[in-house]
Amino acid sequence: MIGKTVKLNNGLTIPKIGLGTWHFPKDLVTDAVYFAITEAGYKHIDCASIYHNEPEIGQAFEKTFKNISRNQIFITSKLWNTSHNPKNVQKECEQTLKDLKLDYLDLYLMHWGIAFKPNRDFEPIDKNGYPILEDISIQQTWEAMEDLVKKGLVKSIGVANFTATQIIDLLTYAEIKPVMNQIELHPYLSQQSLVDLCHYKEIAVTAYSPLGTPANRAINDPVLMDDPIIRKIAKSHKKSPAQILLNWGIKRGTIVIPKSVNKNRIKENIDVFNLELSDKEMDKLNNLNRNQRFVDSEKWWNIPYFG
Ligand code: A2P
Repeated sequence: MIGKTVKLNNGLTIPKIGLGTWHFPKDLVTDAVYFAITEAGYKHIDCASIYHNEPEIGQAFEKTFKNISRNQIFITSKLWNTSHNPKNVQKECEQTLKDLKLDYLDLYLMHWGIAFKPNRDFEPIDKNGYPILEDISIQQTWEAMEDLVKKGLVKSIGVANFTATQIIDLLTYAEIKPVMNQIELHPYLSQQSLVDLCHYKEIAVTAYSPLGTPANRAINDPVLMDDPIIRKIAKSHKKSPAQILLNWGIKRGTIVIPKSVNKNRIKENIDVFNLELSDKEMDKLNNLNRNQRFVDSEKWWNIPYFG
């Protein structure tokens, strides 16, 4: 039986399964989050200001924490690219806390290692199709995030979508080490060497889009959950392809944050601990890697962020 939490480098623990909330429609998100915590047993919710649904998630938290103690649930949010300026970091964090109706976050992540000019438009794009950038280094933003820990607004800080070189550079000056790198991970994009580097540096890794994000993929992209090898392994364990993918993610030491607004699938996605994939099955899943990125910021910003 696999343990259900991962210890972070600051001694705190994070549940291995969380509910992702990207693309959750505003009219469904409150119920989905409330159901996930109170009925399905989720203890970890992953949010971000750019998902534009934190006020609706806040309604679920307000209801939840009437009966459940706040410290039973691990809550993450993320600093958006237009708020990297140290003048704006605390302001954005406080807005997230207000929207989520919380006193503190368990984890606050720099969403991307790129600073956009502060703008009412969250993705200010110039006439040539490039984002309008701001001359703020990752170090300046990180130092402002460290202040959030010192002030008690957040318990831990980390990063998302960071590459190996960004991680290595961050570690040269971080007074407070990042506890987490949240990146896209599934068998078609296993990024084993980046996962290994993070773990070697005692940085936990969260897998976003662990099911291959079927609703967000481009029309010609493959459907991960339809992969015949994954389906065959699922059939032999009498589990769903989603459960195999999530168990694979947990077994390789990562934290997984599948998204669903469907009550049956929310329950299904946390029922993945009573399953033991063999080494041979893990090898088969590992061999599916094809460096297939479903969430590619180059399509939005024209910048080859991942090289
Ligand atoms: P739905 O919300 O209708 O359940 P990812 O986390 O990789 O981004 O994938 C999320 C997508 O996968 C959502 O569109 C979600 O749709 C769908 N999904 C979530 N859980 C399952 C599951 N257990 N089986 C099939 N599809 C799922």
